[in-house]
Amino acid sequence: MEPYARHVLVCTGGFCSDDRRGRALYSRLAFLLQREGLLFGPKRIKRSETPCLGVCHGGPIVAVYPDGIWYARVTPELLERIVVEHLKEGRVLEDKVFHRLAVDG
Ligand code: FES
Repeated sequence: MEPYARHVLVCTGGFCSDDRRGRALYSRLAFLLQREGLLFGPKRIKRSETPCLGVCHGGPIVAVYPDGIWYARVTPELLERIVVEHLKEGRVLEDKVFHRLAVDG
């Protein structure tokens, strides 16, 4: 299996966003990853949906690993920035981060 550089989890559950906007984001993410050439090669991204990330408000929630970066209230516009700036260019959108996992170095 070709290795992945990052894994993106999108909450598609019904508690963090009333109308399950995460579902639309998850579909949009597939398109953006393909458009930005992130489905293959050294920056390859794994995309997964999850029914809940335990936050359950202020969604949709998107988490990026192994960075341990969680974004909240992700709109289609913010998702596009996450894909281009974070996943492709490696720059975390610091002003949009709402949770960061402590990672032991
Ligand atoms: S339903 Fe999205 S975090 Fe729980």
